[in-house]
Amino acid sequence: MTIRHFLTTQDYSRAEIDALLEQAAVFKCSPRGQQLAGKSIALLFFNPSMRTRTSFELGAFQLGGHAIVLAPGKDAWPIEFEVGSVMDGDTEEHIAEVARVLSRYVDLIAVRAFPKFQDWAVDRQDKVIKAFAQYATVPVINMETITHPCQELAHALALKEHLGDLQNRKYVLTWTYHPKPLNTAVANSALLIATKLGMDVTLLCPTPDYVLDERYMAFGRLNVEQNGGSLKVSHDIEEAYAGADVVYAKSWGALPFFGRWEQEKPVREASRHFIVDEAKMALTNHGLFSHCLPLRRNIKATDAVMDSPACIAIDEAENRLHVQKAVMASLIGQG
Ligand code: CP
Repeated sequence: MTIRHFLTTQDYSRAEIDALLEQAAVFKCSPRGQQLAGKSIALLFFNPSMRTRTSFELGAFQLGGHAIVLAPGKDAWPIEFEVGSVMDGDTEEHIAEVARVLSRYVDLIAVRAFPKFQDWAVDRQDKVIKAFAQYATVPVINMETITHPCQELAHALALKEHLGDLQNRKYVLTWTYHPKPLNTAVANSALLIATKLGMDVTLLCPTPDYVLDERYMAFGRLNVEQNGGSLKVSHDIEEAYAGADVVYAKSWGALPFFGRWEQEKPVREASRHFIVDEAKMALTNHGLFSHCLPLRRNIKATDAVMDSPACIAIDEAENRLHVQKAVMASLIGQG
């Protein structure tokens, strides 16, 4: 039997995404169930987390299941991912054993593995989660690698709750300043889900160097072809915000500068004015604001925006719990 994983929403049709969101809404109204009774999930964190860990652990519990949290290299053995590696370095066991052993114990495996930020050509291969999916004999869930599909669903559910039909709503995905170069995962994901839901999407960023990987831009264009809406890139803040129904903020490192971040720093520092503030939000169509969190206040968005009724970031964070329950229940249903 071919195993269905949840690695990217691009593997799921619009109808399947809608079904997951409908199931999540049901779980939101009725949080307890037995869909995971007697089942277990291993949550592997190669990077820190607050929301993802809490919502997955709690979600499994609320559906009668059990979650085991592991941090490879910290409380579990460091894992080797290279095929054919002569393992005389720091790694103690190979993914070929790890994924297959875990598959004998648990019914689902979820993985968070961020890029290394040294070479985008390597990071974009997403080797860690792909190796889990290759060797595991149970479904694998992406808890954020170079995309963040669980965040996508939580974001989409929050938007639907506040706006209803999202078709042709004006959606601005804006880069924001952060003192460190961050993962493009949430930005890639925002672009994927907003185009999948037929929105008119503007990717706003300081320079062409901050445009997202062509793989995700191409998926965005494909989604537009299939679902309507539109996708464009802008470097003009006023033009992008004008009439927006949704402003979604994220900071990310410019792909051409991976491994040479000191050279990116001047561009980043010159772009602090991309902060989401009241003046920019006033240009929108009474637009909603959101962010995946964690967020540095008064760096990415001002206190006034974060504390305004337009901010739905807390709703989005809550929805992580509901959508992940829908994903786990759906994958476990494969038998
Ligand atoms: N948004 C998100 O994934 O939060 P954590 O990094 O806290 O899990």
